[in-house]
Amino acid sequence: MILEKNATVVTSIPGPKSKELLEKRLKYVARGVSYSTEIFVDEAKGALIKDIDGNVFVDFASGIGVQNVGHCDDDVVEAIKAQVEKNIHSSFNVAMYEQYVDLAEKLVSATPGDYAKKALFINSGAEAVENAIKIARKYTGKPMILSLENAFHGRTYMAMTLTSKVRPYKYGFAPYNSDTHKIPSPYCYRCPYGKQNPGCNLECAQKLRDLLKGELSADMIAALIVEPIQGEGGFIVPPKGYLQELQKICNENGILFIVDEIQAGFGRTGSLFASEQFEVEPDMITMSKSLAAGMPLSAVIGREEIMENPIVGSIGGTFSGNPVSCAAGLKVLEKIEKDNLSEKANAIGEKIKSRLSEMQKKYPVIGDIRGLGAMCAVEFIKDPETKEPNKEIIGKITKESLQQGVIFLSAGIYGNVLRFLPPLVMTDEQLEYGLDALEKAIEKALS
Ligand SMILES: Cc1ncc(COP(=O)(O)O)c(C=O)c1O
Repeated sequence: MILEKNATVVTSIPGPKSKELLEKRLKYVARGVSYSTEIFVDEAKGALIKDIDGNVFVDFASGIGVQNVGHCDDDVVEAIKAQVEKNIHSSFNVAMYEQYVDLAEKLVSATPGDYAKKALFINSGAEAVENAIKIARKYTGKPMILSLENAFHGRTYMAMTLTSKVRPYKYGFAPYNSDTHKIPSPYCYRCPYGKQNPGCNLECAQKLRDLLKGELSADMIAALIVEPIQGEGGFIVPPKGYLQELQKICNENGILFIVDEIQAGFGRTGSLFASEQFEVEPDMITMSKSLAAGMPLSAVIGREEIMENPIVGSIGGTFSGNPVSCAAGLKVLEKIEKDNLSEKANAIGEKIKSRLSEMQKKYPVIGDIRGLGAMCAVEFIKDPETKEPNKEIIGKITKESLQQGVIFLSAGIYGNVLRFLPPLVMTDEQLEYGLDALEKAIEKALS
């Protein structure tokens, strides 16, 4: 049990035990699997992680956006334990169980859109994306899939193809899937059209209209998939009306509108799904990460007529919708509502943004501060005039913060964004400690 209430650093980091394991890891684990810290975890609770050397870290990564309800939440652990003792795996394709159906019912009613919907459970975010694309192609009978510049949708072939950043995600893995096309990202801080919002007529969305008049034909396009806030791309929050405009264009042209809530969902942005705040009702939503608090689980929830189209046996899989994962998912939904975690996300996000604004007055390397709820980011630059991305400082900041007992993650197409994905149960003291550590790390990087 972690008895400490806040970060506590007792060795240099990585400590001796982590260093030893790191050597073994380097010997036996494939190089392509990345790691952003060199620590090995002993236990984790709430917003704290304790490593095998006894150091305690305040965690602003949440296992990449997975622990919105906090690490090892007591009630989630109880639900998992109870399920493990009864049925770990019988395969929903062979002998069904209530947890799958109950979670389907809950998610169908919790997702935006007051129309009949159905659910499919699978295991990972990428797998949810793959399935949404398969279903969209089958339903529409059309081949092409649109995604956005700066997008990230996962590492399997179609998800990777729809992703933007070549290094590391796509490098050397060509040929990619055919029949995909990218449209502009609503990256206001670096607007590809040199415009400012409001007053830009959402030119990035209008580009899709242009494409449909020239380069692309709507009768070739099955779906557009879009993250409500681009995650790996740098926590790019679209301007008001952007997603609605995309959905409108899709509706007018018989193109399915898929929203990938894998990183933004489950209270992170201040509502259960970010789509609610952008006032869109997607034809399909992909979700994963915080859905089951660390148990592997993902889902596609979509309009009934779309989800019903694929023939029996064509979607799903051996482990899909594992009963232990579904039991965890049911408890997560209960906790988000009962503990008002969406409201907490807003409170945490306000504190982060206000503190970053203070820092921005002192440090011109801070270019942009953005976010929704507790999905916040700060973009570092070399020069406020040119906005040249400052990737180098991110490495220094994350390294120094870790030495102070704080885990931060980077993001961004240029690698110059520091992102905040704290568990929504982070205490004020932990949050303050983390932001103090960040400021000290910026100062040190600039000295
Ligand atoms: C928006 C989005 N889609 C898809 C994925 C892929 O999820 P997974 O890593 O579980 O395959 C991620 C992961 O970061 C994501 O952020």
